[in-house]
Amino acid sequence: MRTIVRNGYELADYQGAYRVSAELSPFERRFVGGLAAMLAPGAEILDWGCGPGVPYDLHLAWSGFRLTGVDICAKHIAAAKRNVPAAAFIEGDFTSHQPPGPVDALVCLYALFHVPREEHSALLARAYRLVKPGGFLLITVGVHRTAGVEIERGWCGATMAWSSFDAETNLRMIAGAGFGVVLSADEADWGSNEHQLWVLAERRGAVP
Ligand SMILES: C[S@@+](CC[C@H](N)C(=O)[O-])C[C@H]1O[C@@H](n2cnc3c(N)ncnc32)[C@H](O)[C@@H]1O
Repeated sequence: MRTIVRNGYELADYQGAYRVSAELSPFERRFVGGLAAMLAPGAEILDWGCGPGVPYDLHLAWSGFRLTGVDICAKHIAAAKRNVPAAAFIEGDFTSHQPPGPVDALVCLYALFHVPREEHSALLARAYRLVKPGGFLLITVGVHRTAGVEIERGWCGATMAWSSFDAETNLRMIAGAGFGVVLSADEADWGSNEHQLWVLAERRGAVP
């Protein structure tokens, strides 16, 4: 699945199709701005599957946070470095990338669905360990369960792969990892063409 995803993003024009604006929508502001409002100045953020860095990393770097993005697509890492010079970007697989220390917030937007869903629970547990106590997770998860790994041909001119559980299972897994949900909403209910559940959650307590 990773090879399909990486090759797909190297070929596709994701930024041109989905990330032309540096502005956040009111819905995105609730979550990205909500995260920013809860972090101390200069807090450290890790972004799993950062893509070309706009608009989310740009907004967080503008807000004065120290941001590191990780992405498997070399083209996206090159674009992110151009788009957000104030942040650091690393080419790699976020499922195995090891940051030097725990972070104040982990962000993972529109990226978990590119990892086989059998790995999601373990990844959320890993996210919990990477976030400092009192720190935050900002993530988008699927609303509908896919039929295993779904392959889509002709997505943005490329072949792409998706894998997701339904919203209820995803929320259960986030809570099971030890996070307490602060805010969650399906963006489709706010007029978006996307159908993802945005979740802002806090790491509470010790490792479960
Ligand atoms: C739909 S894009 C989202 C990018 C960005 N988060 C945004 O919202 O604009 C998904 C990104 O996740 C990256 N990605 C997918 N699987 C990955 C993995 N295992 N490790 C690192 N990056 C991954 C892709 O290369 C792509 O840039």
